[in-house]
Amino acid sequence: MSMTACGQTDTEGTDGNLSSNTGTASGASENQNAPDNVNALVVYFSWSRNTEEMTQYIQRQTGADMIELEPAVPYLEDYSQCGEVALAERDNNERSGIANLPESIEEYNTIFVGYPIWYYTAPMVVGTFLESYDLSGKTVVPFCTSAGSSVDVSLDFIRAASENATVLDGFTANGSNSEIDNAVDGMISQLNEKRIYRQIGQTL
Ligand SMILES: Cc1cc2nc3c(=O)[nH]c(=O)nc-3n(C[C@H](O)[C@H](O)[C@H](O)COP(=O)(O)O)c2cc1C
Repeated sequence: MSMTACGQTDTEGTDGNLSSNTGTASGASENQNAPDNVNALVVYFSWSRNTEEMTQYIQRQTGADMIELEPAVPYLEDYSQCGEVALAERDNNERSGIANLPESIEEYNTIFVGYPIWYYTAPMVVGTFLESYDLSGKTVVPFCTSAGSSVDVSLDFIRAASENATVLDGFTANGSNSEIDNAVDGMISQLNEKRIYRQIGQTL
C-alpha cells in the first residue's frame, strides 16, 4: 500500500510515484506538528499523474499522511480504453474495488481527497473509498485536477458518498503553486488550522 508520511520516502512504489515526498516535517506520520485536534490524511487517485503531483505538493504543505488509492482492476493506459470503462462506471454508478483500502481511517479527522475530474464528476473509486467508512465527525476536503472543469461538478457526488461528514467546497488544483497555496490556505482557514499549517509550510 502506498501510504506514507511527510518527511519519509516511500520505497514501496517501484515506479517512484511517491519518491518526491521529501517534506521536512519529519515524524508527521503522527502529525506531531499539528494541533491536538487535527490529524489529516491526504488520499488521492491519479491515472495520468497530474493529481499525484498536486497531491504531493499539498501533502508537503500540510504534513499529512498520504495514501494513493490503487484500483483493484487498474485502468488501462490507453486514453480511449480508460475512458470507456470510466464512463460505464459512472453511468452505472459503480463502486469499483480498491486494492489497498486501509482497514481503518479512524485516527484521522480531516480527509483531503484528490482525484481527476472524469466525465464531469469524480472517478467512482473515490466513492468506494468514502463509503467504506463511518465518516461521522470528520471533515472531507475535496480537490481535483482537470482539463477545465471545476471541482464544483463533483461535489454532489462527493457529498452523497460522505455521509455524516462535513464536506468543504474544496478546490481545483490546476493552477500555479501559489494559487494552490491560496486554495489550501482557504481550506485550512475553514478548518481553523491555518496558523499551525503555515508554520509547517514555512519549514519547507
Ligand atoms: C476518462 C477521462 C475523463 C475526463 N473527463 C474530464 C471532464 O469531464 N472534465 C475535465 O475538465 N477534464 C476531464 N478529463 C481530464 C482530466 O481530468 C485531467 O487530465 C486530469 O488532470 C487528470 O488527472 P490525473 O493525471 O491525476 O489522472 C478527463 C480525463 C479522462 C482520462
